Amino acid sequence: MMTAPEITCVHDCHAVLGEGPFWDVREQRLYWVDIKSRLIHRFDPSAGRDETWPMPEDVGSLAPRDRGGLVVALKSGFHFYDPVERELAPAALPDGEPANNRFNDGKTDRQGRFWAGSMDDAEKVPTGGLYCLEPNLRCRKMVDGIICSNSLCWSPDSRTMYYADSWRRTVWAWDFDPATGDIANRRVFITVAADAGIPDGATVDSEGFIWIAQWGGWRLVRYDPTGKIVRTIMMPVEQPSCPAFGGSSLDIMYVTSASIHLSADRIARQPQAGGLFSVDAGVKGLPEARFRG
Ligand code: BGC
Ligand code: CA
Repeated sequence: MMTAPEITCVHDCHAVLGEGPFWDVREQRLYWVDIKSRLIHRFDPSAGRDETWPMPEDVGSLAPRDRGGLVVALKSGFHFYDPVERELAPAALPDGEPANNRFNDGKTDRQGRFWAGSMDDAEKVPTGGLYCLEPNLRCRKMVDGIICSNSLCWSPDSRTMYYADSWRRTVWAWDFDPATGDIANRRVFITVAADAGIPDGATVDSEGFIWIAQWGGWRLVRYDPTGKIVRTIMMPVEQPSCPAFGGSSLDIMYVTSASIHLSADRIARQPQAGGLFSVDAGVKGLPEARFRG
């Protein structure tokens, strides 16, 4: 039997809705967001220090840019942010996003496009969709009819894209064309059982297995590429939200979490809710690409 891995709360900060961890290989730091506190965070594990930058709107996800600074998915769409000058500038504001929507899960594909999904902020109606922002700033809507966009990640060979609607408990897979970013042949990858939470953020490890944070299920689950559960890691928090590999050897899994919607007595049973965790899962991740635009 596999022993339980070491899990450490590396930053016990009670985020409301911690999300979107992104390990920047160049800076050796972990960017992440607290969507509802409207904060960009950057954690430096070598110093044990976390910095924050306030945003004017809910901030769903981000990625560092090749030329420096960040691309961020705010409620109103894609923006560039310069953390040194603290300047925000619109990059692409998709038309037709209803007022009830905000942006949520997002990251770069291995070719350096930035993808982010939107969602109904009340998590009731399927007004969300998935957008792809290309380095030339062309912005395309790729999927629609989604209640809550999550679990975006790509196989190591970039031939498969994964993406979920959390409230349908379903993660789909698509054939992915790395040259064009086109997606095709949508099929169900997994459906999460009712007692195991709902699929939230995901990442792919160097063996091509998919790790999914199961919100409400107190767990991280590792799936093989056929969708079979091969490992379950129980977390000390009910709402783990997203994993990302980091560290100089990409062998530390960082996991964000949320304290939103938890009553005082539930929080009492998980005092680190909203913290940032490291998990020694015994596998390595893959480096994430910076946004090329
Ligand atoms: C969203 C939350 C949502 C959760 C469900 C997160 O990505 O930001 O609003 O409740 O997913 O899994
Ligand atoms: Ca998420």
